[in-house]
Amino acid sequence: MVKLVLLIPGAALLLCLLISQTTSTPHVQVSASGACISSERDALLSFKASLLDPAGRLSSWQGEDCCQWKGVRCSNRTGHLIKLNLRNIDMDDYNYPNRSKPLSLSAGEMSSSLATLQHLRYLDLSWNDFNGTSIPVFLSSLKNLRYLNLSSARFSGRIPSELGNLSKLQYLDLSWNYYGNRSYIVDLAWLPRLSLLSHLDMSYVDLSSARDWFQMVNMLPSLKVLRLSLWTQQHHVC
Ligand SMILES: *[C@@H]1O[C@H](CO)[C@@H](O)[C@H](O)[C@H]1NC(C)=O
Ligand SMILES: *[C@@H]1O[C@H](CO)[C@@H](O)[C@H](O)[C@H]1NC(C)=O
Ligand SMILES: *[C@@H]1O[C@H](CO)[C@@H](O)[C@H](O)[C@H]1NC(C)=O
Ligand SMILES: *[C@@H]1O[C@H](CO)[C@@H](O)[C@H](O)[C@H]1NC(C)=O
Ligand SMILES: *[C@@H]1O[C@H](CO)[C@@H](O)[C@H](O)[C@H]1NC(C)=O
Repeated sequence: MVKLVLLIPGAALLLCLLISQTTSTPHVQVSASGACISSERDALLSFKASLLDPAGRLSSWQGEDCCQWKGVRCSNRTGHLIKLNLRNIDMDDYNYPNRSKPLSLSAGEMSSSLATLQHLRYLDLSWNDFNGTSIPVFLSSLKNLRYLNLSSARFSGRIPSELGNLSKLQYLDLSWNYYGNRSYIVDLAWLPRLSLLSHLDMSYVDLSSARDWFQMVNMLPSLKVLRLSLWTQQHHVC
């Protein structure tokens, strides 16, 4: 069954295709046993050092065993860090930017130390504040990622086509990043390389230069949920 929902919020026409209602949670090993691998610990500490953390959300990030730190999970088989969940659950930060201690982590630019975490399967940075910088290309080196959530994280600019290297991705959420400037995609030729992708959210990503978006999306054999917006300045749908 294909459901088509059209909404018109402000400047954009939001086209929301729910190809299937089936939902499943991403398959992620979650186990807290095993000691932390020191190079991965160092990578987390460098990442933490690059962030502003006014509310002290990462205060547990100290000591030897990084597998016990908040938001961090290691594989109980290999000891490698496989999950990093830094989602900011307090969306009021956006509604009240004058709060003295916002829960969002913020950074001028994301530290590339995360590229050390080569066994990462799950990365959620949603609702934090990357201050209008673009989504870093080095994320595309995390080739074991199954789940990548960069929703509402104040990215802007061009979304790197190198994301097409993340061939194991099942969930990709790039939605609601238009802080200062929109985030945009020039072409989507990389998208069909994500053959395991089942859930793709590009709401409010500017696809007006990606004229082939429909064909590219159509080439994803595993896709179940698709969300995207078409900016009405350039596009006329229906
Ligand atoms: C922050 O701004 C909101 C809305 O503008 C206002 O209601 C609230 O009182 C302000 N809070 C502080 C601490 O200034
Ligand atoms: C965020 O970006 C603005 C404008 O580019 C800049 O002035 C500011 O210093 C940046 N903030 C951080 C934390 O890097
Ligand atoms: C990404 O995170 C946001 C909240 O931070 C959530 O609403 C959304 O469902 C997530 N996307 C996926 C694909 O899980
Ligand atoms: C990643 O993608 C880029 C552009 O799509 C490609 O040129 C590059 O060879 C890829 N790198 C790896 C390691 O697959
Ligand atoms: C948005 O992008 C334009 C063109 O690339 C640039 O001139 C402008 O400074 C950017 N605005 C912000 C807020 O980053």
